[in-house]
Amino acid sequence: MPPDEFRAHGHDSVDWAAEFFAHPERWPVQSRNRPGDVRRQLPASPPEGPERMEDILADFRRVIVPGITHWNHPGFLAYFAISGSGPAVLGEFLASALSPNGMVWRASPAVAELDEVVCDWLRQLLGLPPDFRGLLYDYASTATTAALAVAREAVPGLEARELGLAARPGVSALRVYCSEHAHSSVEKAALLLGIGRRNVVKVPAVGGVGGMDAGALARAVAADRRAGHTPVAVVATAGCTPTGAIDPLAAVAALCRREGLWRHVDGAYGFMFGLVPELRGAFAGIELADSIVTNPHKILYCPLECSALFVRRPEAFRSTFSLVPPYLRTDDVGVTNYNDYGPQLSRRFRSLKLWFVLRYFGRRGLVARLREHVRLARLFAGWVEAAGGFELVQLPTLSTLCFRAHPEGVSDGPGLDRFNRLLLEAVNADGDVFLTPTELAGRFAIRLSVGHIRTSEHEVARAWELLRDGCARLAQQLRTGATALSAS
Ligand SMILES: Cc1ncc(COP(=O)(O)O)c(C=O)c1O
Repeated sequence: MPPDEFRAHGHDSVDWAAEFFAHPERWPVQSRNRPGDVRRQLPASPPEGPERMEDILADFRRVIVPGITHWNHPGFLAYFAISGSGPAVLGEFLASALSPNGMVWRASPAVAELDEVVCDWLRQLLGLPPDFRGLLYDYASTATTAALAVAREAVPGLEARELGLAARPGVSALRVYCSEHAHSSVEKAALLLGIGRRNVVKVPAVGGVGGMDAGALARAVAADRRAGHTPVAVVATAGCTPTGAIDPLAAVAALCRREGLWRHVDGAYGFMFGLVPELRGAFAGIELADSIVTNPHKILYCPLECSALFVRRPEAFRSTFSLVPPYLRTDDVGVTNYNDYGPQLSRRFRSLKLWFVLRYFGRRGLVARLREHVRLARLFAGWVEAAGGFELVQLPTLSTLCFRAHPEGVSDGPGLDRFNRLLLEAVNADGDVFLTPTELAGRFAIRLSVGHIRTSEHEVARAWELLRDGCARLAQQLRTGATALSAS
């Protein structure tokens, strides 16, 4: 593509993105596509000859955009939000324009050194001690897998890196502990590392919705030791996926220290709120961890992929992962070759977008935005609590809460679950907002999480309006017999 053509289409693309940011209300948050809609509109075979960029961009708008569920939309109150903020999108664009591969320092010195600087800035913002070193990974799932690989390597005499785990007589089951609400990435790490899903011990949450029960954790570890198993690590979650609850980090750390276990904290969503001074206390004890993952691509306004793993002993990561074939050998001193610290060789220039974000907003700007997410979640919780016909399942610890409608005449049980499922479908069909379901103690709940950079009181109030109206309408349909709550 000649530079002038690139410039012209680049301008068109930026105009399109700016329009999207200026008027997100023109797009429904959740895609209305049905399965196969995109596939059907595209030719089954690739083009033989070149096509015009005008046509490609027109098809992007016509075919692709309607098939997008708009995570980068202020009405996105589902899962955990991901914001492509302006500075981050520009950082991502320029990183693509340069397309460097930071696999070793020499392959792109700025990639390695900016990673280092940006991670250390983030460490300071999060109030972690200086002996933590940050490593940027693609996803928290990879970071947690890497941390558990290092924890496995720390088991005396196991030598999994060199010998593997297959056919090792006398090797007892390696056990990893986490909350019943921990993210599935813990189990995925266990299955990838030969630990096995069944050796991930799910510890009950206090009251079914809170943090992990520290007493139950201690009992599970003791029972495993009696049974001859080998406890390896505890993954404490700081911001559980269904509820945003924070595990008792100090108690978990104390137990791990007594028992000689690796302490990993999954703060993929939650720990970014550690930037907010009045919330930092909720993370007390996190500084005692061996490794902590937190995702700028969830709550720090960066698009995928950008996950920061803070580790106490980087040399343990190096001894677990380093392999230097001749073509990667360099004699540079005083540099970091980041491929030595994780499973991947090639490295995207992830720190560029994070650097843009940290500089564009500054600490004050980030804190103000994170604080606003929490304020909006609490405001919404207050509306739910005050309204008749709704119940709050759990107060927001951070910016995530669960609730359900409970109209008069609908008794607790599968019928109420179905009522809430229908209500959620109706709210999402409107297109202004998007919320997701969860299940707590076997019961359906609606979950709302605030984390998009442009979400304001307007979207949260709209969600509440849709929920109340939808609830009244459904209750009316039940009375008239137009809807039934028997499972379909
Ligand atoms: C608590 C928690 N940990 C880990 C993950 C996985 O993060 P990633 O998609 O970066 O692998 C998620 C995803 O939502 C999460 O909620």
